[in-house]
Amino acid sequence: MGKISNAWATASELASEGRFQEIARRSIELAYRERRALGLRRDLRIPIPHRTARIPITVRPLAGDDIPFLFPRGTERLARREKVELATRRAMLDAGVPQCFVAVDADGTPCYFQWRLDHRQNRFLQSHFPRRWFPVLREDEILLENAYTPVAFRGKGIMSEAMAIIAETGEDVGARAAITFVEVDNPPSLKACANAGFAPYTLRRERSWLAGALAHRRFEDFEPARG
Ligand SMILES: CC(C)(COP(=O)(O)OP(=O)(O)OC[C@H]1O[C@@H](n2cnc3c(N)ncnc32)[C@H](O)[C@@H]1OP(=O)(O)O)[C@@H](O)C(=O)NCCC(=O)NCCS
Repeated sequence: MGKISNAWATASELASEGRFQEIARRSIELAYRERRALGLRRDLRIPIPHRTARIPITVRPLAGDDIPFLFPRGTERLARREKVELATRRAMLDAGVPQCFVAVDADGTPCYFQWRLDHRQNRFLQSHFPRRWFPVLREDEILLENAYTPVAFRGKGIMSEAMAIIAETGEDVGARAAITFVEVDNPPSLKACANAGFAPYTLRRERSWLAGALAHRRFEDFEPARG
């Protein structure tokens, strides 16, 4: 029922923006939808040269004072997609998932965040997210999840640098590899992951029917496109 009322709210908002083609596409997707995400991996034992952001940044764990900047309550002025992105991350914050890292600029303003999860969060990962959304993490593996750069800071190379630094903090918990998942239709994130030393190793394919009431997910070997 929640999904239907969400779909109705989204359709009303899109109609008010005159985006009728998107309403048609989303209506078809309610009946059947296929989503693909690349699983990317970085071997933390192999050092990589860091791509530096176009503004100086430092990375540290999330502090209480960062929350009003990074998870603003008043999101009315934001685009619908941005509201959804923030709500997803707010849910992760509210769930009390530890190890959220933040990049700050030279003035100390938070300009990026991302969670680093390890095998101790396997129970959370397998219950908070849909079944088989993530693989069960091995003891020597971390997962970087829910990267977000506030709109005003995008395109400055912040994710490219910060994600590399956050991945390398995995060595503190004995990780030898870092993984992450990115939808295939998210070029900025895919580029930033590549800049941070991540390469595709699997493809998560999800097929869902009847607004997600039925869903099937599987991990497939990744085969790079030829030519
Ligand atoms: C994805 C996201 C975190 C990228 O953050 P960012 O700090 O802007 O990333 P970077 O500046 O390091 O950009 C990486 C690359 O994407 C490019 N890029 C960034 N924003 C772009 C945009 N809107 N359109 C096209 N290219 C873009 C950059 O130019 C850079 O390309 P390059 O490697 O050729 O230099 C940010 O767009 C975001 O928060 N999006 C919403 C949430 C999201 O999608 N999170 C990722 C979930 S997996």
